Amino acid sequence: MGLGCGNPVRLAELREGEIVLDLGSGGGIDVFLAARQVGPRGRVIGVDMTPEMLARARANAQRLGLENVEFRQGLIEALPVDDSSVDVILSNSVINLVPDKAAVFKEAFRVLRPGGRLVVSDMVAWAELPEELLGDPDLWAGCVAGALPEEAYLETIRKAGLATVEVLTRQGPEAGHVYSVTVRADKVAEVAA
Ligand SMILES: C[S@@+](CC[C@H](N)C(=O)[O-])C[C@H]1O[C@@H](n2cnc3c(N)ncnc32)[C@H](O)[C@@H]1O
Repeated sequence: MGLGCGNPVRLAELREGEIVLDLGSGGGIDVFLAARQVGPRGRVIGVDMTPEMLARARANAQRLGLENVEFRQGLIEALPVDDSSVDVILSNSVINLVPDKAAVFKEAFRVLRPGGRLVVSDMVAWAELPEELLGDPDLWAGCVAGALPEEAYLETIRKAGLATVEVLTRQGPEAGHVYSVTVRADKVAEVAA
């Protein structure tokens, strides 16, 4: 059910009644964990592009008897979600797989309500990856070749308009090319003048 690299749900400090969106929800593990925390007044939406993963997630939801969850097919670079409609965005080991990460974070900014937050776990690289790794499809699928260096990843989040970007955890071997981070960022609500 889970193919993640961190525990964004634990670090998101979800509250009852919140609307949560999981980018690249896969088999649904983080959607289900979040659904229990936001309770029946809340709602969790998972978006994934792969029909087989959506079918698996929907079957899991039915088996668990969860009614406050929903799975939508779509690309996280073009989310099938209304503007300013969610309180919290989660994602677990997905954004590294997307070549256009700027589009993902722009979409995250669009769908978050002012005052909302993003808490994502993802793979990042210790340094720019060698050219020969970047074109290897197995290394893309293995969450290696698409990993940006940490500072470039954080800068992409800031450029999308999100603020107070902070690395909450770092995990992984110092050997090898990549490690995992969990990052939090906020869509700051504008203060009336
Ligand atoms: C490594 S799995 C992680 C799944 C889940 N987040 C978890 O922790 O188990 C990556 C998932 O992201 C989905 N995915 C990859 N690129 C995507 C994109 N551009 N738009 C939507 N889903 C995507 C895949 O279909 C797959 O289900």
